[in-house]
This record gives sequence, structure tokens and C-alpha cells, in this order.
Amino acid sequence: MKRRPAKARRFIPLACALALVAASGVAHAQSGAADRGKYIFDSAGCYGCHTEPGGAPMAGGPALRTAYGTFYAPNITPDPEFGIGQWSDADFTRALREGVSPRGEHYFPVFPYPAYTKMTTPDLLDLRAYLTTIAPSKKPSRSHDVNFPYSIRLTLLPWKWLNFTAGEFKPDAGHDAQWNRAAYLVEALTHCGECHTPRNWLGGLERGQWMSGARMPVGDLIASNLTPDKTGLASWSAADIADALETGTLPEGGTLGGEMGEVVKNSTAKMRPEDREAIAAYLKALPPLPTTVKKKEK
Ligand code: HEC
Ligand code: HEC
Repeated sequence: MKRRPAKARRFIPLACALALVAASGVAHAQSGAADRGKYIFDSAGCYGCHTEPGGAPMAGGPALRTAYGTFYAPNITPDPEFGIGQWSDADFTRALREGVSPRGEHYFPVFPYPAYTKMTTPDLLDLRAYLTTIAPSKKPSRSHDVNFPYSIRLTLLPWKWLNFTAGEFKPDAGHDAQWNRAAYLVEALTHCGECHTPRNWLGGLERGQWMSGARMPVGDLIASNLTPDKTGLASWSAADIADALETGTLPEGGTLGGEMGEVVKNSTAKMRPEDREAIAAYLKALPPLPTTVKKKEK
């Protein structure tokens, strides 16, 4: 039998001591913030992108294929070496608000910071508090496989100038509290528009065609028109929409598949009923727009 190296044996009590410290004071003081942060985390769908099926939570995600190349969401567990354990709260807030790393590099917008920039600062801090409760993982992040010239992060700068405005969600005084709650959930957290809105040739969202349906970057699925147009959700009641977001079932039977199945499972099914109802009412109140994206010829 092989002897366990002395170094490893010395290490165990130290690790236990650290775990005890973490489990007592710090974790306790943070638990209110972490509970609120868990709700933000679920609504914003962080898990699916940052976790490989069957892998350690948030230790790095599956391949995300896009027209620009293949991306892998990194390890964002609290591990100080392989995750973001050494980041300050300010580093974290800046990454989500501005799309910039602690080293000043621009992030690719596959990481949906163009939506997350709209989160309030208290929500960002609660989210961080929750992330610190996840088990640290030593899994190294995979590097992206991105086509030239997008592989050069500086090419993101003109993209950001044209398509990105950093800043927190501003409630619209012309609408009631339920509408504003939904607008916040949709724009800042659940980022429905990132899939359901057509993009211009630079990959920026066409705000004039908000939620009118768009083709997914990979595969044949179209993220449907969610406006109350006859080519959209005109025939759905608000209750139909809220139901689909909870259970993934369509009003005429059948279930939501592909990316939307993941959105339901990881995100909208875990939301509070009143938040799903607010989103449904918000969609019913959108200006109706015709679908512009065409189905692929068979
Ligand atoms: C659609 C997939 C997707 C979702 C959803 C997503 N991310 Fe990411 N995330 C990525 C990708 C891809 C990167 C790498 C970006 C790059 O390298 O430019 C990334 C990078 C990050 C980084 C930077 C890590 C580092 O080491 O620099 C942080 C922090 C982060 N994400 C946190 C989150 C949080 C918190 C959420 C939920 C609110 C979230 N992400 C949701 C795909 C995603
Ligand atoms: C990651 C991309 C993505 C995100 C984010 C997303 N969706 Fe979807 N959604 C899709 C796709 C793709 C479909 C089509 C699924 C299918 O054909 O089975 C779809 C379908 C739907 C449908 C069914 C419409 C119909 O006519 O059948 C509804 C309703 C819906 N989404 C609402 C939402 C809402 C509300 C949000 C935000 C809370 C959201 N989606 C976020 C990709 C997305």
C-alpha cells in the first residue's frame, strides 16, 4: 500500500479549520443577501451557461456555438485560483455592469452583460453574496475557440460603442409598478430580448423590433414573436403565457424545446408566480409587431 504523502496529511486539518471559519460567522451574516441573490441567480439563468451537464456547479460551462466561434463560460466559483474568489465586489459589479474584467479586458457579449448592466447595485451585490456560497472548484476554465478577428478582444470596442450602453434600469413613470417590475425582470435578468429580438449586421439588438422574433444562432429554432401580433402571441391569454413559463407547456399542447426548455427549467419555473404573471402582462402590453424572420426552406 502506498503511503499518503506527509504534505497532504498536514493539509487536511488546515482545510477543516478554514471550512469551520467560513461556516460560522461569515456565511451567517451573509445569508439574507445570499437568499435574495439565489433568486436573482435563478431568474438570470447563470447556471446553465456556467455549468457543464453533470459537472460541478458554476465551474465552467458547455460549448456555446455562435457565428463568431465557440465560447466556454469560465469557472466563477469562489476558488481563489481557478474561480473569482479573489475578486472584490467592485470587480464583480464592473464585470456585469460594464463588461470589463478586473484586468481591463472587454468581455464578449455572449456573456449577456448588455442585459445584466441594467441590474440594480443591491441586486448585483446580493448575487455576488450567493455566488460566494457555492463550493469552490479547481477546474481550469477552457479558452474560447473564436474566429479571427473577433479573437482579438479590442475588436469588441467598436461593437460596444455602437451597441452597448452601461447603466442601471430606470423605471418608467408612465407605467405602473407591475409593468416596471416586469420590464426589470425581462430586460435586466431573464434577458428574453437577447434571443427574441432580431439583430443588426453588427450583432446589436434592433430595439425598434423589440421581441418580434429572431433565429437562434445555431440550429433551426426561431425564438418566436412574443408581441401580441397575429404572427405572435395574439391568441395567447396572459394566463397561457404565465403557464408556459411555469410548466413549459403550450396552450394547444406540446412542450417548449431547445433553448426555451432550458430557460423554463433553469429560470422561469423557479420564479415567483407574481413575477411570471407580471412578465405575461408586460408581453400582452407590447406594441404588436409582425414577425420578420423567415423559417428556413426545407
Ligand atoms: C448565455 C450564456 C451565459 C449566461 C446566461 C451567463 N454567462 Fe457569465 N459568461 C459567459 C461567457 C461565454 C463568459 C466569458 C466571456 C469572455 O471571455 O469574454 C462569461 C463570463 C463571466 C464572468 C467573467 C469571469 C472571468 O473570469 O473573467 C462572470 C463574473 C460571469 N460570467 C458571471 C455570470 C453571472 C453572475 C451570470 C448570471 C447573472 C452569468 N454569468 C450568466 C456566458 C454566460
Ligand atoms: C436562450 C434564448 C432564449 C431566451 C433567453 C428566451 N427564449 Fe423564449 N424561446 C426561445 C426559443 C428558441 C423558442 C422556440 C422554442 C421551440 O420552438 O420549441 C422560444 C419560445 C418561447 C415561447 C413560445 C412562443 C410560441 O409561439 O410558441 C414563449 C412564450 C417564450 N419563448 C417566452 C420567453 C420569455 C418570456 C422569455 C424571458 C423570460 C424568454 N422566452 C427567453 C429562446 C429563448
